[in-house]
Amino acid sequence: MKIFTVVSALVAALATVSYAEDEAVAAGCALSGTYSASTTASVLKSCKSIAVSGLSVPGGTTLDLTALQDGSTVKFSGTTTFGVKKGFAGPLIAVSGNQVTIDGTGATLDGQGASYWDGKGSNTKVPKPKFFKSSKLTNSVVKGFKLLNTPVQAFSINQCQNSNFTSLTVDNKAGDALGHNTDAFDVGSSSGIIIRGATVYNQDDCLAVNSGTNILFTGGYCSGGHGLSIGSVGGRSDNTVQDVTISDSQIVDSDNGVRIKTVSNAKGKVTGITYSNIQLKNIKKYGVVIEQDYLNGGPTGKPTDGVPITHVTLNKITGSVAAKATNTYILCAKGACSDWKFTGVTFTGGQHSQKCQNIPAGSGATC
Ligand SMILES: *[C@@H]1O[C@H](CO)[C@@H](O)[C@H](O)[C@H]1NC(C)=O
Repeated sequence: MKIFTVVSALVAALATVSYAEDEAVAAGCALSGTYSASTTASVLKSCKSIAVSGLSVPGGTTLDLTALQDGSTVKFSGTTTFGVKKGFAGPLIAVSGNQVTIDGTGATLDGQGASYWDGKGSNTKVPKPKFFKSSKLTNSVVKGFKLLNTPVQAFSINQCQNSNFTSLTVDNKAGDALGHNTDAFDVGSSSGIIIRGATVYNQDDCLAVNSGTNILFTGGYCSGGHGLSIGSVGGRSDNTVQDVTISDSQIVDSDNGVRIKTVSNAKGKVTGITYSNIQLKNIKKYGVVIEQDYLNGGPTGKPTDGVPITHVTLNKITGSVAAKATNTYILCAKGACSDWKFTGVTFTGGQHSQKCQNIPAGSGATC
């Protein structure tokens, strides 16, 4: 009797939990076992409620969710594993669609990054796969995923509009020795993007906005990487970053806190940038760094004025910078930085830079 009660309670509980999944399975709308591109394509064609569970994707293959019907929901559960294929540029998973929800709550995507990590990241002739590519996603939501061990960049958000990326985790703790270019969120040519409640352990930018407008990153936790960045801006097909707010976030054990970098001798613009309520802890290079001399491979030290940085607000940026690190470094070309307002930017621990140039007058910014 007792056992029966327990068992039936359990059955009832499981039934509720997996109801949507069962329904998808019954309707032939489930993806599991070894990934097949043709099966997936026909499921996407005939189903709007799709369940992905225990899927294993062979190396060299993209889990292709780019042909979702408008209004589709894809629910992942368990661990999806991506096989290793050296030389594959990825992405491991690609999503596109209008009014779609890609829900990875409680699910892990395992990129097996350790098999690719060599300390060089993307700077090799043999490419490594980018992980989760969202492109042409409109009015949609990606939420709840944990990306484990990304070979290189984790989430790339390109040509997306009005979409939310909520409660996403990048866990690359295992890559601290050899992981490189493991950016968590790269945003380009997108507008109306909200990244809320991200948790990131990686070895490169927590956020890097290369181009785009109306972007919000809020409630994030970034550990081990290069901080919350705008840029590098310049030298791409789209070189405008406008109206970006980064707020209410923590950055720990990272190279930088707040960073804006524009490419040396390039053209473009960076305007309407707000960083507010950012707490730093153990920052190893710069608490705040804004520089107009960036080149991959190393900044030149000579700022150029082709990508002006205007209307920048930093409010309540506080916390600790390592003893050998620099609190604030600003390197602007003459007349190329204006309309800035710094309030409550205070750090403990770091050095004062002697190399700052052209800090906008009246901005409250100091080095
Ligand atoms: C994204 O989040 C905002 C703010 O919570 C909300 O207004 C908007 O409807 C959301 N967008 C989608 C596509 O769910």
